[in-house]
Amino acid sequence: MADIIIDHVTKRFGTFTAVDDLDIRFSDGDVTCLLGPSGCGKTTLMRMIAGLETPSSGRILFGERDVTQLPPRKRNIGMVFQYPVMYPTLSVAENIAQPLKHDRSLSRGERERRVEEVLDLLDMRKQARAFIDDLDAGSRQKVAVGRSVARQTDIVLFDEPTTNVEVNAKLQLIRTFKAVTQRLKQTIVYVTHDQTEAMTLADRIALMKDGSIVQYDAPRRLYNDPSTEFGGWFLGNPGMNFIAAERRGNQLHATILDSPLDVASDLGGGEIVLGIRPENVLMHSEPGPGSVEGRVTEQTIGIAGRNLARIAVGSAVIKVKADGPAPVAADGTVQLSFPRDRILVFRNGARVTL
Ligand SMILES: Nc1ncnc2c1ncn2[C@@H]1O[C@H](COP(=O)(O)OP(=O)(O)OP(=O)(O)O)[C@@H](O)[C@H]1O
Ligand SMILES: [Mg+2]
Repeated sequence: MADIIIDHVTKRFGTFTAVDDLDIRFSDGDVTCLLGPSGCGKTTLMRMIAGLETPSSGRILFGERDVTQLPPRKRNIGMVFQYPVMYPTLSVAENIAQPLKHDRSLSRGERERRVEEVLDLLDMRKQARAFIDDLDAGSRQKVAVGRSVARQTDIVLFDEPTTNVEVNAKLQLIRTFKAVTQRLKQTIVYVTHDQTEAMTLADRIALMKDGSIVQYDAPRRLYNDPSTEFGGWFLGNPGMNFIAAERRGNQLHATILDSPLDVASDLGGGEIVLGIRPENVLMHSEPGPGSVEGRVTEQTIGIAGRNLARIAVGSAVIKVKADGPAPVAADGTVQLSFPRDRILVFRNGARVTL
């Protein structure tokens, strides 16, 4: 039906480049999350897909259809924003029905059937007659989601729809959202700076930085195989450990390695950094094969029984995430080991495969 094709799209505001020569295709029926820090260009990209902003150069296509110059109402898309526009004097069901009224191809019966279907999807049958003003922010946002999907447009766009929803309602909203998107076959672009949200919802995540997409991958892949140091740092809570390494011939040396790491001879020059996720570092009280000694500088008891410790190894401070606390108190000595298959190598910020 409708892949979204971003064909070398750039957006400048004056001399500032907000979106920089993006060239990517979001697949039909996928939920794509645009994820990245504040100011990286997520909303700007989404607004161009919506037709609320025109690219400075490049084209946007929905399948075969070039929509670059089309106004939003001619693009046949649904949208949900942080602050949805609702009709406070209408009920939940009437709000969902509202956009369907403009569709003359729908019979009254078909409209009613769609509204019922959406109420079921949202699990809001009981609130069908409630007024919008009487709902909490989470439920209001659910109605906004329902309204945007009821039209059954090929494409639905969301810009941080959970931002103003308190945390419990937020989880519920995300669950509903997931259920709705799995049932419907619409192509969805969902903007968020919340990695948990993106990991939960996305078929694929487009990770953005400074107006560019640094990686477009399935959530697990993005997490386990970041193609950049930025990806390793941005994803994860906390992000990856990075340790400077020194190259001597075909070997890398670093404080976390008890013996050097062999690399291909064509690794090239530049700054070499080793990356390992905090949960992949192993911590013991006694020395073992490959272990290096470190000193506990800080420990925090985390939620869900996971603890975070900071361990000084030489000049590096390593974050370690473990199920239990460190085997010794602060300032004590522990042994760390770094499984070789969990160590990623970066050169000038970009991943190199050994
Ligand atoms: N209309 C505009 N005029 C000038 N600069 C703009 C305009 N819209 C966006 N920008 C700039 O473009 C950059 C990208 O903005 P954008 O809103 O796309 O970021 P974002 O990734 O959505 O960030 P956030 O997570 O804060 O919503 C920012 O530096 C912003 O200040
Ligand atoms: Mg934004």
